Parts: sequence; structure tokens; C-alpha cells
Amino acid sequence: MEYAIECIDLHKSFGRHQIHKGIDLKIVKGAITYIIGPSGTGKSVLLKQLCGLMPPTKGRVLVNGRDLTQMKQSELTEMRKKFGILFQNAALFDSMNVFENVAFPLREHTKLSKGEISKIVSEKLRLVGLRDVEQKMPSELSGGMRKRVGLARAIALEPEIILYDEPTTGLDPIMCDAVDNLINDTQKELGITSIVISHDIESTLKIADYIAMLYDGKVVLYGTPEEFKTTENPYVRQFFSASKEGPINII
Ligand SMILES: Nc1ncnc2c1ncn2[C@@H]1O[C@H](COP(=O)(O)OP(=O)(O)OP(=O)(O)O)[C@@H](O)[C@H]1O
Ligand SMILES: [Mg+2]
Repeated sequence: MEYAIECIDLHKSFGRHQIHKGIDLKIVKGAITYIIGPSGTGKSVLLKQLCGLMPPTKGRVLVNGRDLTQMKQSELTEMRKKFGILFQNAALFDSMNVFENVAFPLREHTKLSKGEISKIVSEKLRLVGLRDVEQKMPSELSGGMRKRVGLARAIALEPEIILYDEPTTGLDPIMCDAVDNLINDTQKELGITSIVISHDIESTLKIADYIAMLYDGKVVLYGTPEEFKTTENPYVRQFFSASKEGPINII
């Protein structure tokens, strides 16, 4: 098995607040890995550490075998080109219109001509189901539309690894299905390694090759959807059944 990313004994604290208490996780190259777990367990914080946007307090993150925590800033910047990232809040540039937002990584990291960039931007917007929005400003879009612009930007460079933080939250059921298919297709057609944070258990079980569940700073189970469906693991069972009874503390 080849791994795109390996987390080794990863710890993360903010002051006295311990978020990750020793995460060991290997992300299989070319596969789709879903990360699930209750709100506030540190899924988004983990994603930021995987791509070098946030340093761990302790432990290592290897990308293609190279340790991010030992890299100089210039090496980190170079390495980040391998990643496409859809942040949880879409994080568009508010002063740029939709076209410029999606074109941004292409302008930053490639020498493509204006015409080529324009073609790619239209193609990616079409893939996420958006039309006639290129000249609109982010403030003129609905939340779901902004999310899809963020998605188009994340896939624009056809990166080696795409990180999706809750790509379907806030989208209507038809759009959710379209985004699920998009994640599936980009991986199947382009062999991209995809890491998806999701609260949608149904699509997790449908699309994932592997699933990792986080709770209390650790990975409580890692396995295939089949293993998650049949496991007796009390954390997974409680989470899947949305029950108040079990080892997960409901605050
Ligand atoms: N920059 C930061 N400074 C201090 N605390 C932070 C920071 N970022 C995140 N946290 C804290 O880390 C914890 C985990 O946050 P994170 O956003 O990773 O949760 P999550 O699992 O993604 O939750 P959700 O499912 O609600 O998105 C939270 O308690 C949060 O308040
Ligand atoms: Mg989050």
C-alpha cells in the first residue's frame, strides 16, 4: 500500500486545550478517505495540519514520505501546490468575482494563457453546476453557491491531493448528490487522493474507500465502509445511531 500522507503520533493543543492526543493515520494514495466524528473533535484542525497550514504541537506529518514539520517556509509553500483545499466556510476572496476566485490558483501556480485559464474556469464551474455566475461577487451568491465556487477553485489545478471540509453541508439534496459524484469522479478519473470531512453518514458509507472516526483526540476506528457498518465499536455505533446513550459525551 502506498500512502500520500502519514500522521505519526500527532498532538495538537491550543493553550491548555488538548485537541489531538496522538493521532496515527495513514491516507492511502489515490483513495477517498472520509474523516468523521462529533462536532469540535478537531477534524478541521487535523485537515489544516495535513497540508502544513497549522503546525502540530508534537508528532510528524509525512507527505509523500517527506516530513512537513521539518520543512522551511519556502519548501512548505512549494509542497502546498500539491493540495486543493475546500475550507469549511468556503473562504472565497470577497474582493474578487467568481471568475477571478477560481482562476486564482491557476494564475499563481501555472503559466497558462488567459484563454486556457478561461476555459478551465468555465469547465470547473460547469462541473459544480454553476452557470452565468463568473462576473458575480461572492456577496451576491447563496451559501451553497459560494461552497460550489470554493469547490471549483479546489479542483482547478487538478491537484494530487484534495481536502474537502464538509463539502455538502448546507447544500440541497440534489446538489449534495452532485457533489458526492464529483468527489467520486475526480478520484476515479484522475486518481486524486481525496480526504473528505463529512457529517453525512449515508454518503460517507457510499463514497468512502476508507473511514477514520475521531473522538477525544484519537482515531477510535479506521476501516472500510463495510467494517464501519458491521463493527461493534461503541463509539461508531452511538455516532451512527445518533443516540444519547454510549461512550460519547453529549455536552
Ligand atoms: N485557531 C484556533 N485557536 C484556538 N482554538 C481552536 C482554533 N481552531 C480550532 N480550535 C478549537 O479546536 C477544537 C476543534 O475544532 P475543529 O474546528 O477542528 O472541530 P471540528 O471537528 O471540525 O468541528 P465541526 O464538526 O463543528 O466543524 C474546538 O474546540 C475549537 O474551538
Ligand atoms: Mg470542522
